[in-house]
Amino acid sequence: MKIKIANSDPAQFETEALVVLVIDGGDKDNNKPEFQAKADAFSKAAADLVASKEITGRLLETTTLHKPDGLKAKRLLVVGCGKAKNFTSYELRKVAGAAVRALKKNAKSIAIVAPENWGGNANSASQSTLAFERGGLKEAVKAIAEGAVVANTDYNYYHSDRKQQEIDEFTILVPANADVKALEHAANAGQIIGESQNFARDLVNEPGNKMTPTILGQRARKMAADVGLQCEVYSEDKLHELKMGAFWSVSQGSPEPPALIILKYEPAGAPQQPVLGLVGKGITFDTGGISIKPADGMEKMKYDMAGGAAMLGAMRAIALLKPNVRVISVVCAAENMPSGTAQKPGDVQIAMSGKSIEIINTDAEGRLVLADGLHYAKQLGATHLIDAATLTGACVVALGGINAGVFANDEDYFNRFAGALKKSGEKMWRLPVDEEYKELIKSPIADIKNTGGRYGGAITAAMFLKEFVGETPWIHLDIAGVAWQEESCPFIAKGPSGIAVRSLVELVKSFG
Ligand code: BES
Ligand code: MN
Ligand code: ZN
Repeated sequence: MKIKIANSDPAQFETEALVVLVIDGGDKDNNKPEFQAKADAFSKAAADLVASKEITGRLLETTTLHKPDGLKAKRLLVVGCGKAKNFTSYELRKVAGAAVRALKKNAKSIAIVAPENWGGNANSASQSTLAFERGGLKEAVKAIAEGAVVANTDYNYYHSDRKQQEIDEFTILVPANADVKALEHAANAGQIIGESQNFARDLVNEPGNKMTPTILGQRARKMAADVGLQCEVYSEDKLHELKMGAFWSVSQGSPEPPALIILKYEPAGAPQQPVLGLVGKGITFDTGGISIKPADGMEKMKYDMAGGAAMLGAMRAIALLKPNVRVISVVCAAENMPSGTAQKPGDVQIAMSGKSIEIINTDAEGRLVLADGLHYAKQLGATHLIDAATLTGACVVALGGINAGVFANDEDYFNRFAGALKKSGEKMWRLPVDEEYKELIKSPIADIKNTGGRYGGAITAAMFLKEFVGETPWIHLDIAGVAWQEESCPFIAKGPSGIAVRSLVELVKSFG
């Protein structure tokens, strides 16, 4: 998708479809929906639909008018933004995405009028999670670009009758007096981030037979060469050399060799510290191993590498956006299979850090690969760690499919990450890692065990990881419930969501 900025009069702009946003006026005295574009032409063209209450401004309501009166555009698409007080960048991304998805079957080139007066009053933000970003034309343009790029993709690659139905040209119309250069920069940043999110989604979409650890390594290597990142991909021998006993134990049941993927972004002028360490769970298929999962729904476990994919997507964006900070990424890829060579419940494994682990359940494999990945990232010089993993079903039970779980051992680092969430528009909810929970992962035979029983499963998994980060500031994202969209939404196709890419990028940008 090509994204352009133009400061033309929307009413005079020739396009296959013009998108205009409308705010729900339900909380205003006159109760009138409010068009986010100056020209009277829009309210005139849509007057009847407003009068009949077919256009109310309700969030994500879309209404199409053909040959709109007084406009040069072939169609007018009116998209609702909800009430002004709740309209943040979180909604704006969805609105832009809904416009793209509503039009992509019938148009190749569309234009959207950027809202000028959005974001309402921060004090009245809905109390749901964090208050997301509000106001500012640059912020609006960036959010629109991100939402549009993400919405433009559908995951039907394996349908033999797949049709190419994408928007090729997307123009963001801004006021005549706007700083077009600055807005082009903002749109470009949004596009890079959206495309990197799509890069991650593409990886996650692939089934287990088309996305083995080796293939993930090849895809990482190609991406790194394209954007100019250092990349090394190792396999079994290196795991033995580094004594990554926890990581290797997961891979030992599969004939597919593991992949240890290392990416480095080291800009010339950046200070020696901080060094951010991005660590991802890359289980390309999780059968559960000897503690095998039930057949029902097991096919979904092809997305168990979504944390690793998020790290690769974030590294891609970072290489292109060039923040002035060092970043390394470690992705631990393996296939978790049952076989005669697989590890067994009761086995004791020695992690790279030297800690011994009793394996209670071979299906708690994500924490094993991350234990060595986190330790290795520290050894490579990371001063701040963040990991993402489809780690626990317990996190899905706790937070459902809306919020990812976030865990942190350092308040300053967490606050910085909360700032990144505000910009990224990704919903995450903090869960605790109090020392008291450590009791639950004590083992009679080893230093720790790899499961903590029925209660607080997302937390005990995080406690396990915490054993391997020591004093280093660390954030853990449990994305099990949000990495895969079960249903199609107006603004994103069903399938891989690409969660965490945008927040990781904003976190890194906050350092550089
Ligand atoms: N990959 C799964 C977690 C998962 C569940 C991801 C649902 C996506 C959706 C993970 O490896 C796993 O199997 N976790 C176990 C841990 C348990 C054995 C302690 C779980 O959550 O059941
Ligand atoms: Mn598992
Ligand atoms: Zn898993």
